[in-house]
Order: sequence, then C-alpha cells, then structure tokens
Amino acid sequence: SGKMPKGHGMSDRLLRTRKILESVGQEHVLGFYENQDEVGKQNLLDQIASIDWSEAARLVETHVKHHVSFTLPETIEPAPWYPNVPTEDLKEQYQRARERGEELVGEGKVAVFTVAGGQGTRLDYNGPKGMFPATPITGTSLFACLAGYLRKVQEKFEAAVPWYIMTSPVNDADIRAFFEQNQYFELDPTMVIMFPQQMMPTFDATTAKVLLEAPGRLALSPNGHGGSLKALHTSGAIADMKRRGIEQISYTQVDNPLVHMIDPLFIGLHAIDGAQMSSKMLPKASPNEKVGVFCLLDGKVSVIEYSDLPNTLAEQRLENGQLRFRAGSIAIHLIHVDFVESLNSRRGHFALPFHRAEKIVPYVDFNSGKIVESKAPNAVKLEMFVFDALPLCATSIVYETARLDEFAPIKNACGADSPQTSRALQMERAARWLTTHGVRVPRDVEGKLNATIEIRPTTAICADDLRSVPLPVAIEPGGE
Ligand code: UD1
Repeated sequence: SGKMPKGHGMSDRLLRTRKILESVGQEHVLGFYENQDEVGKQNLLDQIASIDWSEAARLVETHVKHHVSFTLPETIEPAPWYPNVPTEDLKEQYQRARERGEELVGEGKVAVFTVAGGQGTRLDYNGPKGMFPATPITGTSLFACLAGYLRKVQEKFEAAVPWYIMTSPVNDADIRAFFEQNQYFELDPTMVIMFPQQMMPTFDATTAKVLLEAPGRLALSPNGHGGSLKALHTSGAIADMKRRGIEQISYTQVDNPLVHMIDPLFIGLHAIDGAQMSSKMLPKASPNEKVGVFCLLDGKVSVIEYSDLPNTLAEQRLENGQLRFRAGSIAIHLIHVDFVESLNSRRGHFALPFHRAEKIVPYVDFNSGKIVESKAPNAVKLEMFVFDALPLCATSIVYETARLDEFAPIKNACGADSPQTSRALQMERAARWLTTHGVRVPRDVEGKLNATIEIRPTTAICADDLRSVPLPVAIEPGGE
C-alpha cells in the first residue's frame, strides 16, 4: 500500500546484478553475498558493476576455455629504424626534426603520460612502484624523479606540459595521497591529471569461473598497460587534452628513473613522418635479453614478445656479427591524440587484443568459503599490451636510443633490472656527463666507479645542462 519495503533499492540492485551474472554463467560470485554486512554487500555490488561482463563472457570463450596460440606470419623482417647517431644523409633531417620537436613542446602541444597501474609484484615493495626510493644518494622516489624531470623541461622550454598518470583502482588513493603529501613536487596540481585503468576478473583455468579473493570480493587485476589506450578515452583524459590543445602524447613507464619523458628529436621524427604511434628501441644486449623485438609483420611495424620469437630468429646474425633482430622494445612511445580516439571509436569492441597469462592465485573455495593456495598455476589473467596498437597504424617509426642514456628500469627485487642495477646505471650516466665537462671521476683498476654520484633532474636532464652548473674539478674517491 505505497510503503516501500526496507532495503528495496538494494534488493532491486541485487536482482539486476544477479540477472547479468546469470546471463554469463558467473552468478556464483554472489554465493557469499548474504554473509556480508551492509558495507560488504555494497562493495561487492560496486565491484561487480565495474566489470564489463559481456567482454568477460566473450573472452572466456576465446581466451580462457581455449588457448589462443600465436602464429608467426610468413614474412617476418626486422623493422627499420632511425639510428641514434645520424648518418651523413640523415643529419639535416635530424636537425629539422629536433627543431620541430622543440617547437611542438614550446607551443604546449605535447603531454607526458606515465603508466603506473601495474601491481609491481616482482619488486616485492609494499606500495605503488612510483613511491619506491630509486636514486643512489637521496633515495628520491620514481614519481619525484619524473616530476623533477618535468619541472626542468617546463623551465627549459618555458612551456606548460601536462602530466597524465594512469593508476589502477588498487593504487589510485595511495598515489593521490603521495602527491598531496609532497605538494605535487612543486608542479602545478591542475597540470597533473590522474585516472584509474579498468580491472579484469581472474578466471579459474579449468572451469573458467571468476575467482573470489575473499568471500565478498572478486579477484581482479589491472587489464594491462594496453588498457591505457582505452582508459585515456573513457576517463575523459583525451577530451581534457583536446581542450588544452595537446596533439601528441609521450608515453613512458613508471619504472625507469632515467627516461627522457620529452625528447624533441624523437617527437620531431614522429611528427614529420606523420606517424600515429612510434617507438624507441635499444639494441638487445644478447639474443636472450627479455625484451620484445620490433619486426615488420606483413609490412606493419609490430612487437614480437621475446617468448614468441623463435630462437633461430633471435640468434640470427648479420655478416658484421650484429643480431639481425636486435631492436628491443623499452616501452617508450609517442602517440597522436587522434589515434587514441580512432582506437576507441571502431565499431564493436575496443581494438586491442588480450593476452592470456597463467598465474598462481589464491582463491576462495566456493563450497567451504576457505582460501585455497594452489601450488601450480591455477588461474588465467588477461591483459592488453600497448604495443599491439602499432600494427593498427598507417605509419609508425622506430628510433634508436642509447642504453646508457635512458634505460635503468626497476622491475625485480634483485638480480637484473633491480634497484641495485638501476642505481649503478644512474651513477654511470651521471659520471659520463661529469666527464664530458672535464670532471675527474674516480674508478678502480677494473674501471668500476669508486664514488656515489647523483645528479638531480632539476639540475640537469642532459649533459649539456651541466654547462651552467658550478662543478668540482674531481670527485673524491669513495665520496658522495
Ligand atoms: C615491459 C614490456 C617489455 C619491455 C619492458 C621495458 C610487456 C609485456 N613487456 O615489460 O617488452 O622490454 O617493459 O621496460 O609490456 N602497467 C600498468 N597497468 C597494467 C600493467 C602494467 O599501468 O595493467 C604499467 C606498470 O605500472 C609499469 C609498466 O606498465 O609502469 C610495465 O609493466 P610490466 O607489466 O611490469 O611490464 P614488463 O614485464 O616490465
């Protein structure tokens, strides 16, 4: 008689949610719904609402129940690239490109974009990777290194360069709080724009059912850095860029304190060639270095993952002894704003494919409600990779950078690509910059640095910037 039963809105929502889940065979995720308190119920429904269930259902058929196997096309060639040091015939073009790049940055048409939504599981650090203390003396965090770089760029180019950061629902609040606490590292807060990427459910590898990480919580993980090209659009970041007059996006990862977030030469080469998305590469250090390789597949620039590149190709050498397939991907790209738009406006679903990874994921047993720890991979995670957008370009260029100059990633807790190797590489670059200005840098008989050196990005982001800095004649052996 006109009176609403208590909790009517909620049960309505529950009914609707159940219906959607039933239509895709995943209604079991509500199995412990009634055991949750009001907040727990709300959270579970919110979490379920954040998932694109029709996409999930499609992927269960194509990627969870079946393995999509990667097949190499008939013709695979190394992708061509612009060399780091220009050959005689390229000198003029490089000069023009550098000027064009500087012009675009100066006119405020380039934004920097950092993907920081990953879980950083291999680093074994309790917090978002961007908060990790990266530098050898001051222990400056990755985010602060990037912020310092950006301040220097804005000062040098007297230009506004907005910084877009992709977080994930898991680390978004922590990252925002970190920027707040640090007063945005002296950047203008209205120029730092953060948005979370989307999450994907984790599936049971045998039953294709979505796993729960707690009775009232789905096991979700970020949808891969390729998800950035979708989140840029859905978050409104692209619309924001258009309002600001941004044309090009300089894409880099959060894990590399040496990265040149703005590289005028690279920007100019990309812009003058009219490319939609371009990439930086490093010559692989060895055939088995774990980086993807730039190839031409059916004439399109593409990255083949190291796990997909047959050994026979990985080990092929040219007459001069160099690896034939040596253009390693270091996840640095330039992307035209219009290209991101076009990826999101194709008919049907978002343009990038998913990749399947089998992982060990603890999960809730649907009968007992207890957590089960599996010993072997029991779960399927699905991720998109940003470089899968490359073959969708009409034009895409590759530019070779120097390893010592901009690659010191922090990925693993120890061994290769660890905080330790990164600090050593940061110091090597600093030492090299100082040496070019005549500063004596102490080394032992094996040539190993015998001092701890750190150059703040606000002091210099290239060797040339040290010109106006008062420098010592020599660094004390063993000194800081
Ligand atoms: C990646 C590349 C590899 C390249 C290397 C260079 C892949 C599959 N591999 O490896 O070819 O040589 O970088 O350093 O891409 N991220 C998100 N959301 C996600 C997943 C990741 O924002 O859902 C971000 C991370 O925060 C990080 C970056 O992407 O900044 C790299 O992610 P990660 O998955 O660790 O890639 P790598 O295995 O290091």
